[in-house]
Parts: sequence; structure tokens; C-alpha cells
Amino acid sequence: MPILNEHYWEARYQARDMPWEKGEPSPGLVDFLAVHPELKRGTVCVPGCGAGHDVRAWARAGFEALGCDIAPSAIQLAEESPAEAGLKARYALHDFLKDKPPARFEWVFEHTLFCAIDPRDRDDYVQGVLRWLKPDGNYLAVNYLIPDQDGPPFGTTRDELMKRFSPHFDLLNEWVPRSYPNRTGLELMLWWSRQGRL
Ligand SMILES: C[S@@+](CC[C@H](N)C(=O)[O-])C[C@H]1O[C@@H](n2cnc3c(N)ncnc32)[C@H](O)[C@@H]1O
Repeated sequence: MPILNEHYWEARYQARDMPWEKGEPSPGLVDFLAVHPELKRGTVCVPGCGAGHDVRAWARAGFEALGCDIAPSAIQLAEESPAEAGLKARYALHDFLKDKPPARFEWVFEHTLFCAIDPRDRDDYVQGVLRWLKPDGNYLAVNYLIPDQDGPPFGTTRDELMKRFSPHFDLLNEWVPRSYPNRTGLELMLWWSRQGRL
């Protein structure tokens, strides 16, 4: 397996080898934001944001959104997206698994970062979510339930996700979202809260 560090991801962007790039936000996220106008608008971090479509979806819904990515070319792509008046969307170069966050966020939104990292780093990923999130924050994840062990992307199961996250969060809701056509039925959204663990 290649070493999945910043050089690996930067090379994928430089080679334009980015099949994950769909030119639009996660359909599951779009629907979530549309059916929850009641949510208090706050701050959100989108780790592994790539070209930033999900960051801008949160910002369009009124959140103050920061996308972070380990690959400079991803940040450049995100920053080159057409300006939209009044949008509170920013991007920064960070290693989500290792870096101290510039601030802690009310939401962390996962979409194809968990499946992109080396599965041996999943404990660090969970610690990253806990570090970047406020103590009473929400963690919303579009999880990719594929069997693949030769990633990225690497698969996971609902069982693994429960084992990893339920010690730290309460599960508020779970559902199979609308997806990009090639992922239909393979995604599971989990909405976790730390509120009850204060
Ligand atoms: C499969 S891509 C998904 C990009 C974006 N979420 C999307 O769905 O279009 C995985 C992204 O995670 C980034 N990444 C990988 N490891 C990371 C880390 N430790 N911290 C932050 N970003 C990381 C990669 O550079 C890449 O942009």
C-alpha cells in the first residue's frame, strides 16, 4: 500500500487522478441541510475537503465553514471556485489527524476522508474529530460502506463505526441518503452529538 501522506494526495491532484471529484456537494448533505432549517447556524469544519463543494454547501445554508485538506492543490482548487457574495467559506492546509485546530467547531462534517486514510490511522481520525469539535458539538458523517481492503477508498461497516464513535457520542439519527449515482445504496449517514457526554 502507498504511504497516504500529503505527497501521495498532492500527486493525485497534480495528475488530475481524482475520481472522487463530482463537481457538486454530497447529495446526502444537500438534503440534510434542506430538511433542517431549524438548526442553529454556527461553525463547521469539513476535513479532507478536496475542491470544497461541501464547504460551500454548508456556507450557502448560513454556516461559517472551514474546509481543510492535506494537499495544497486541493486548497488551490477550492479557492479558485467562483466567488459567491456573502459566502462564509474558507480553506486551509491542515493534517486533520495530526494538527491542532485553529479553533474548535460546532460541527465536523465527514465525507470520504475516513475511507481515504490508512485504516491503521482510524484511532487518530477519531481523536481528530474529538480535538476539532467543541465539547457539545455535532459530528455528521456520510460513511462509505464498501468491502474494499485495497484502497483508498477503504471500506468500513456500520458495526465498526458504532464501535469507534459510540464511546464518545450519542447517535441522533441514521439513514441511507440520496447519493451520487455510482454510490447509491452504499452510503450511510450518521448524525452524532457530544451534547449528552458533557
Ligand atoms: C477521496 S478525497 C475526498 C475529497 C472530498 N471530501 C470529496 O468528497 O470530494 C480525500 C481527501 O482527503 C484529503 N486528505 C487525506 N488525508 C488527509 C488528512 N490527514 N488531513 C486532511 N486531509 C486529508 C486528500 O488530500 C483528499 O483531498
